[in-house]
Amino acid sequence: MIKVTNLAKIYKDKSSKQEVFSRLSFNFNKFGSYSIVGPSGSGKTTFLNLLSGLDGFNSGSININGMELHKATAEAKSNLRKMLFGFAYQFHYLLENLTVFENCLACCFGKDDGSIDTILKNLKISHIKDKFPSNISGGEKQRASIARALARKPKILILDEPTGNLDQFNSSVIQDFILNYASKNKSLVIYATHDISFAKRADKMLEIRNKGLV
Ligand SMILES: Nc1ncnc2c1ncn2[C@@H]1O[C@H](COP(=O)(O)OP(=O)(O)OP(=O)(O)O)[C@@H](O)[C@H]1O
Ligand SMILES: [Mg+2]
Repeated sequence: MIKVTNLAKIYKDKSSKQEVFSRLSFNFNKFGSYSIVGPSGSGKTTFLNLLSGLDGFNSGSININGMELHKATAEAKSNLRKMLFGFAYQFHYLLENLTVFENCLACCFGKDDGSIDTILKNLKISHIKDKFPSNISGGEKQRASIARALARKPKILILDEPTGNLDQFNSSVIQDFILNYASKNKSLVIYATHDISFAKRADKMLEIRNKGLV
């Protein structure tokens, strides 16, 4: 479903140049769970942004369901994201003027069949449903952003450090939920984490090393 071939990514500005990936190749199956590990600054967030077409690369290719990202228009990439992807970023990016529930609703185009309440319940955040992001804790924001990513039942779920701000109990709630989501919905789940025991629970654990994936 996602085929990455000889990918290179270089961050460049006037004074510096940094090659994050060179000739990175990897194929993700249509469904299953994949974890991505690597030291801080190794490129986990960069890789997730490239996969979802949020950021451009310098050479190589990323093919998603037959679409070559570097040949696709911005509109085609945006449609692809809407149709296929759900994301929860390292920084939550919840809309501050919407409640947690409304943030989820906005993500599934205003249509809800009751599943948002179920997701909030499963992630143990029903109690903050009607609160605004500025009035909830960091860990609650993180779970709210995961709930929002799940609200449209994405075929590809991308999570950047989904348990980074959570205590052990809530971390294990989220881990179980995410891994269960991948197997129950025949979806592809790709998550970056610094938690090695969580990373090992994925069907495949990938490590960023020497500007590539092993
Ligand atoms: N927009 C950018 N412009 C320039 N350099 C960047 C940019 N974003 C990231 N980098 C650099 O690219 C490298 C990879 O960053 P990235 O955020 O992908 O790492 P990471 O593995 O997600 O780290 P962490 O575990 O701390 O979240 C870092 O050295 C970072 O400084
Ligand atoms: Mg990161």
